[in-house]
Amino acid sequence: MLEFENVSYYYSKNTPFEKEALKNISITIKDNMTTGIIGHTGCGKSTLAQMMNALIAPTEGKVLLDGKDINAKDYNTVGVRFDVGLVFQYPEYQLFEETVYKDISFGPKNMGLSEAEIKERVKFASGFTGITDDMLERSPFEISGGQRRRVAIAGVIAMDPKILVLDEPAAGLDPKGRNEILSGLVEYRKKRGNSLVIISHSMEDIAVYSDEIIAMSNAQVLMTGTPSEVFSNHKLLTESGLDIPEITSLLINLKALGYDVDSTCYTVESGYKSIEKLFK
Ligand SMILES: Nc1ncnc2c1ncn2[C@@H]1O[C@H](COP(=O)(O)OP(=O)(O)O)[C@@H](O)[C@H]1O
Ligand SMILES: [Mg+2]
Repeated sequence: MLEFENVSYYYSKNTPFEKEALKNISITIKDNMTTGIIGHTGCGKSTLAQMMNALIAPTEGKVLLDGKDINAKDYNTVGVRFDVGLVFQYPEYQLFEETVYKDISFGPKNMGLSEAEIKERVKFASGFTGITDDMLERSPFEISGGQRRRVAIAGVIAMDPKILVLDEPAAGLDPKGRNEILSGLVEYRKKRGNSLVIISHSMEDIAVYSDEIIAMSNAQVLMTGTPSEVFSNHKLLTESGLDIPEITSLLINLKALGYDVDSTCYTVESGYKSIEKLFK
């Protein structure tokens, strides 16, 4: 479990460029589930992500992994990088090895694993990210941007983190690519039984794939809860300029017109069922 306790963060503190990027954040990333973090560009999501594995330390407050302060002097900071795997925004620009296989095995190799274990891990990670065997021996520079993104994600999965944090893993991909990557990640999480944090500015992505949502606005937490809980408070979301899934929006409008539908549905399947009942 990863907890943020009253965390604030300032860039360039005590200079004319001082910027408060996070204001008094208290959240819990629970074990064994997918947490979606949603918010507009600039609300502090990437800053929050980099705090999850101690790449940056809070200006105020604490980040605790299983109850221990990860920024304490006596905490093993190398260990936290293995426990909490972080995939940066646009990670496809960070590949550098000669082959896809070598790129994915870079992390596990640094962890001191044997060749046989590394091979197992590359196979496991490739399976969930849609990387085929024939791609493993190719150069990461010969494959498409979307495939490179998958390689970068596989490299962090191969390190087998307790918590996998992905900053905008689906940004810039077409709907098919987005769904493939996100559903592969959720499938991986279920298989592995660890926890997944998906950061996005798209409510459609977060709604479908998250068990729990943390909505952010202006460096603060706006609300947290299950997707139904969060979308039942759609007024607060829209007032803060965050979208709600299109299907939820349709159901809210139908309800306002007097139709008996469930306006907390957030997937097209459940929304369809709710509307279908009107015709029975
Ligand atoms: N290195 C930096 N120096 C100064 N300000 C920064 C830096 N990185 C981010 N910021 C500012 O901090 C705020 C939060 O940024 P960020 O965490 O990247 O938000 P998000 O990922 O939600 O778009 C933004 O206003 C951004 O301009
Ligand atoms: Mg960001």
